[in-house]
Amino acid sequence: MLRRQLVNLCANALRQRSAPVVWSAVCSKRCKYTQFTGVKGIRNRKNMFETNKIRNNDDDEEGENTSFNHGINLEDRDYEEVANTAMNLSHGQNIEQNIFVIQPYVKWGSKKSASNPDLQLKEAEALVHSLPNCNVQLSMKVPLESLEKRVLFGSGKLEELKKIVSKGRSGAKPLTALFISKGTLSFAQKRLLEGEFGIPVLDRYSVVIQILRLHATTAEAKLQVAMAEIPYIWGQMKDANPSMSRKQGYAFSDIQKEMLKTREKKLKDELDRIRSHRKLIRSKRKQKNFPIVAVVGYTNAGKTSLIKALTNEQTMQPRDQLFATLDVTAHAGLLPCNLEVIYMDTVGFMSDIPTGLIECFIATLEDAMMADVIIHVQDLSHETWLEQRHHVERTLESLTANLSHIENIQMPPIINVGNKIDLLSDLKSEGPDESLKMVSSKTFKGIQDLVEDVERKVLETTGRKKVTMRVKNGGSETPWLYKNAAVVNTRADPNNEESILIDVIITDSKMQQFRHYFCKK
Ligand code: GTP
Repeated sequence: MLRRQLVNLCANALRQRSAPVVWSAVCSKRCKYTQFTGVKGIRNRKNMFETNKIRNNDDDEEGENTSFNHGINLEDRDYEEVANTAMNLSHGQNIEQNIFVIQPYVKWGSKKSASNPDLQLKEAEALVHSLPNCNVQLSMKVPLESLEKRVLFGSGKLEELKKIVSKGRSGAKPLTALFISKGTLSFAQKRLLEGEFGIPVLDRYSVVIQILRLHATTAEAKLQVAMAEIPYIWGQMKDANPSMSRKQGYAFSDIQKEMLKTREKKLKDELDRIRSHRKLIRSKRKQKNFPIVAVVGYTNAGKTSLIKALTNEQTMQPRDQLFATLDVTAHAGLLPCNLEVIYMDTVGFMSDIPTGLIECFIATLEDAMMADVIIHVQDLSHETWLEQRHHVERTLESLTANLSHIENIQMPPIINVGNKIDLLSDLKSEGPDESLKMVSSKTFKGIQDLVEDVERKVLETTGRKKVTMRVKNGGSETPWLYKNAAVVNTRADPNNEESILIDVIITDSKMQQFRHYFCKK
């Protein structure tokens, strides 16, 4: 009876792909899925994604939002079963989840954790709060000798935790899952711990994946999240001991492995296609001569809010959630000299996330790495803002190193911005670091200074200069300048009524072309 209810629950849950997440309440009763009738891993459901081919139109900036008809069924049931088992995820009704968050850390010795465990614990709690209907019921730090032990905890600590869990399970709001805030737990570790505690055990990777799944709205973001899941599932499969798992009614069959391989290949091909598409869009933007300013930063640092303040774009909706932005989006802004720039909003960074997860977003982060200027937004009101800053810097450096093999690129100049100063009680005007531009995206304090700084950097790095040109009134110079430079102002020439004065912002190479075409004599 219970079993039938469980199967029905699973089936309903899978049907409600968009509903909030729940974790399987009885982990030991995970579904058996060995009865496959064929490889159904990837099915084509054309109606899921609109086809929006790259147009040849010069004005097409819509590539930012282009969907891809990739022929991959991202909601495939067979895949969902494998993924849910590997990641301990499921989808279901509005069921409240009460989570016990454990932050393990190494207190002593050579393996001592670099990050502050109190702050890591807070970040882990924030991850849980980013999921709908999920409460942090209990949370604690647990000092360990090493994070690599088979069961993670020593026997004494395990008994202590078992008592806490058992008490929590019989409380008014019974515990439904244990979140161990460690990048990845091995399949064996999870299974052993679930056996000990009797509730599902989650690691950081699987919680972040769940947040990403919920926030992925465009076809491209969904593809990236789907790809991000694959290395984790392979890792969990590799780990599973076939004889033991079969005894528990659980094994990845050859058919499932085949399905995963096919899915991975299709996703990879599709992401490669997205990469080439992005390259095309980048070169179109370059042709149009728009300088690009990428806004990067730790998740929730205020990237979207800062772009909103810089561009005055009212439709942008900053959210107090981790990983709210999963797509790179472009927003036009005007510099004081009247030059138009494009601000790119990017995916936020977070520490202790396995690199496999970030790699899937490389296609979108490439845009940031190839921008003319990077703005690195830092949340100064956050206790770990300096750690967050170093994490982003390290990631950017490794991204540049990876990308330099593909397209000879160098890290663009970076403007460091300290955001949320309205939340600081004792603010020194120069900030904790002299190079940091202090702003509040909320109150607009410091935004004007920042825009001027962006202008200086953009003009410097793109080799643009502000120049006033005297040209013949009605001559072909004026349309040429409109096409090849940013025209800031035109006015009558007080000394010669046959000519006009045009203020432009122009690159050195375009200036040479101008001279070549119009100043031959
Ligand atoms: P992700 O896309 O999740 O990486 O976030 P983000 O970096 O784009 O941050 P977002 O702009 O969405 O802001 C996150 C939260 O911080 C929102 O609740 C904002 O309202 C808030 N916030 C952003 N800037 C400021 C600021 O200057 N002051 C205050 N008080 N809150 C801010």
